Amino acid sequence: MKITVLTLFPEMLRGFFESSIMARAVKKGLVEYELVNIRDYALDKHHKCDDLVFGGGAGMLMLPGPLGACLDAVGARERRTVFVTPSGRLFNQAYARDLSQEGSLVVICGHYEGIDQRIIDEYVDDEISIGDYVLSSGEVAALVLVDAVFRLLPGAISGESLEEESFSGSGESGLLEYPQFTRPADYGTSKVPEVLTSGHHAKIAGWRLRERLKKTLAYRPELLASVGLPEEVQRLLAEIVTEGGSHEPYAEDPGRADQG
Ligand code: ADE
Repeated sequence: MKITVLTLFPEMLRGFFESSIMARAVKKGLVEYELVNIRDYALDKHHKCDDLVFGGGAGMLMLPGPLGACLDAVGARERRTVFVTPSGRLFNQAYARDLSQEGSLVVICGHYEGIDQRIIDEYVDDEISIGDYVLSSGEVAALVLVDAVFRLLPGAISGESLEEESFSGSGESGLLEYPQFTRPADYGTSKVPEVLTSGHHAKIAGWRLRERLKKTLAYRPELLASVGLPEEVQRLLAEIVTEGGSHEPYAEDPGRADQG
């Protein structure tokens, strides 16, 4: 997949593409990337990229001239072009999967109050928000989007890791992931749940499913209705609800005062 990111701050992104799993995907030839500085397409002597909003209002808008020239230079009209913005369609795993099918992606990072609507009308296929909160720069949102997409490319990470993680599909695989433990089996005052060291695969699978249900019930109960659980799993869920819902660590109020 070829990924082109248009940005006013390429240095914010470079470290991501040169590190860890992304760097490996680039080395393997799964990802080719290009960081393009929109300012290079601002032809006035001050390389101006923003101006006031017509009609008034707070903040500045990115100028259509430099951004349009930049989009033309990277062939955006012939490629799936996304703009990350808090006023876009909400991003999720299914959206990431859809974008991962593209051979080529252009991502526009917004700054200031956003970009001129004529650029959106002319070049942008998708306006995408990564969540219901506002970031100070589109680069952070672009990284989230690119990360969620590239890791789904065949060969980027192991298929097994993908299968069991949260949001990976319908039925049980649409649940949040179960808790995981590594060595040592005794850590401080707390021990790994015995079943996980029993070597009994069916019991381990049963424990994991139960934990996924408990965690999803506690954190994201709305997912339980939409993932389409098989009947026997629904029975297990009903049992958990009758027993009093989720276990202690997940039963806390997320808005409690001591969370900083
Ligand atoms: N830019 C600023 N906030 C954003 C968000 N929530 N999603 C996408 N782009 C953004």
